[in-house]
Amino acid sequence: MMKFDSSVILEKVKDIPPLPQIASKILAVMNSKDYSISEVVYYASKDVALTAEILKVANSAIFSPRDEIKDLRHAIVILGEKNLKSLLAALSMKSYFYKNEPKKDLANKIWEHSLSVAIMARLLSQHVTDVDSSEAFLLGILHDIGKVILLLTTEFYEEIVTIARKTNVNICEIESNLIGFNHAEIGGYVLKEWKLPRTYYEKVYYHHDVTEYNDKMIALLGVSNYLVNTKGIGLNLSDEVVFEKGMSILNLDNDTINGVVETFSEIYEMERKIFTGD
Ligand SMILES: [Fe+2]
Ligand SMILES: [Fe+2]
Repeated sequence: MMKFDSSVILEKVKDIPPLPQIASKILAVMNSKDYSISEVVYYASKDVALTAEILKVANSAIFSPRDEIKDLRHAIVILGEKNLKSLLAALSMKSYFYKNEPKKDLANKIWEHSLSVAIMARLLSQHVTDVDSSEAFLLGILHDIGKVILLLTTEFYEEIVTIARKTNVNICEIESNLIGFNHAEIGGYVLKEWKLPRTYYEKVYYHHDVTEYNDKMIALLGVSNYLVNTKGIGLNLSDEVVFEKGMSILNLDNDTINGVVETFSEIYEMERKIFTGD
């Protein structure tokens, strides 16, 4: 099979609209040490759709407030910093999938996979020291953004997915051979171009390099990926080596994993409705 011209892809990447401006702006604000809730409310209120989503989630079963919350500031306080970050990331990613009509099937699979990894990573993070659970969720949502980028900028990404399935070869290897870089690398590159915080683009860039780095967040993404893929929610193979190495970096045992996997499906169904269903 011929190689594809990576410069064409990098050129087309420039035409992809970055993550919704307001959402990235708020994420950047919240990443600075001394921001105020008023700043967050100010930016969020500029986006009507975002305001509606924040109110919807604050009033959802997850928080089940006694009285209906109608005020944005109140809703943001109820959600709290961590949940707001997660929500912003999820909504930002979701915005790509609606615009992608012809490739909807694969796009939906990537979305479901991303949300699953996000939820799995958040659940596992509660059993790991020194890992922020909202960051785990957020990176879970973003980790495979490179696949979305490749899907949007090429005509052959579906073919690559099919080859990976048929040959049982790691998808990153196929991407690197045919394109010159893999989805993790292009994802990290694009997030950097979009000026997202360094922690985000670095972890995304290295998310398949669990065995090379002794990094808890990367290990968490690797283990979550493995568990989600074994449930059939993904495009990759389940990599045992990554799983074993990740488990040791995170100091997790099989009982903990089994417990988390058991609760996963119910939580996933509930949150999928909130993030996907309207
Ligand atoms: Fe990936
Ligand atoms: Fe993944």
